[in-house]
Amino acid sequence: MESKNIRITQRGGDLPPVSSVAADIISSATHERPADAVLREMFARRRDWSAQFKGEVSAAVFDYFRWYGWVKDEATVESGLRRAWKLAASFAENPDAILPEALKDKAVPAWIGGEVELHDSWLRSLQSKSHLWLRAKKGQGRALAKKLEAAKAATLGLLPDAVLFHGEEDLFQSPEFHAGEFEIQDAASQMVGMLCDPKPGETWWDACAGEGGKTLHLSDLMENRGLIWASDRADWRLAKLKRRAARAKMFNYRAVVWDGGVKLPTKTKFDGVLVDAPCSGVGTWQRNPHARWTTTLTDVKELAEIQKRLLAHVSAAVKPGGKLVYSVCTLTRSETEDVVKNFNDSQTVFEPLPLRMSFLGEKESSRENPAAVKWIWPQDLGGNGMFIAAWRRKAV
Ligand SMILES: C[S@@+](CC[C@H](N)C(=O)[O-])C[C@H]1O[C@@H](n2cnc3c(N)ncnc32)[C@H](O)[C@@H]1O
Repeated sequence: MESKNIRITQRGGDLPPVSSVAADIISSATHERPADAVLREMFARRRDWSAQFKGEVSAAVFDYFRWYGWVKDEATVESGLRRAWKLAASFAENPDAILPEALKDKAVPAWIGGEVELHDSWLRSLQSKSHLWLRAKKGQGRALAKKLEAAKAATLGLLPDAVLFHGEEDLFQSPEFHAGEFEIQDAASQMVGMLCDPKPGETWWDACAGEGGKTLHLSDLMENRGLIWASDRADWRLAKLKRRAARAKMFNYRAVVWDGGVKLPTKTKFDGVLVDAPCSGVGTWQRNPHARWTTTLTDVKELAEIQKRLLAHVSAAVKPGGKLVYSVCTLTRSETEDVVKNFNDSQTVFEPLPLRMSFLGEKESSRENPAAVKWIWPQDLGGNGMFIAAWRRKAV
């Protein structure tokens, strides 16, 4: 993994070994300050490090946590890191070398077995790197793929503008990024926007808009026409949304702070409301392996209560005949099926809205569920896992 040549920083100094930088980051990562946040903070300080060096450090940190169940008892973090690299290399060569029982035992924490069925295909997918997906502007997927080095246009039926990126270049420096021609957005997240299926001229509410990943997609699908209320309880996230909206030339939105309480930010009745709720993020465990070892069952249970409240509160804002969509990038029963059941049991004005995702085939439709729900597993697309449910408010 490490080059034997002495490598130099962009300012002419020596670069430290990847393993020692990675070991420092691994040792300082905690539940409150996860590895990806530590990486971001460190990279923001070290502008003299090249994108390639930063990429190697990130990969090393994530390799360590991906193989943590196997290496956690090593004498030092650096020896654990070396073992993790060896395991990653042998798994890449022959994934079957790791037996199903070892995966169940070591790839995930024990508590998750009570919340997610431990399919071998899911566990196996967690041990490799996830894909990097871009979302091009509506109708521009193939054109963007041609422009970007090493990008490959994906053909996923419902996701015509998803572009799979295999390259090494720093996409944030590319002219296409600065021109607002694409966003980095996971394929499963793109699926949420596609299933919302908003029409130009409609009025939507993205109730947990965060930094605007899905708001931007909804706006693009609406051809910048109509209006989207984008709310979040974190105003710093909405500030980022505004910067992204400016770059994407998205104008049909209004950003407002909303704390998730029963008092809604507007009296408007919407054609559609999306609740992309805060969740435990178990669906991102392939992309973010440190989270496997910091997320707890208590987090899951607490988040499920917040999700139930958010759904109940926003449902009041859906107009008769309008859509309500719930999405979470997690796969736990408490935050998916149980939230849906709770909503179905607590009201009579919404009916399940069937969702169709042709590329996933018919295996989904055989599941018995009280509502129209879709599961996307990391192994389906090589991206995040996601759960989506939708309802329509009955016309009065
Ligand atoms: C999954 S993230 C949203 C991601 C965003 N939709 C996107 O696609 O980029 C969940 C968001 O919910 C917000 N949030 C957390 N608790 C909330 C609450 N009680 N009320 C409203 N928003 C909340 C968080 O600040 C976070 O931005």
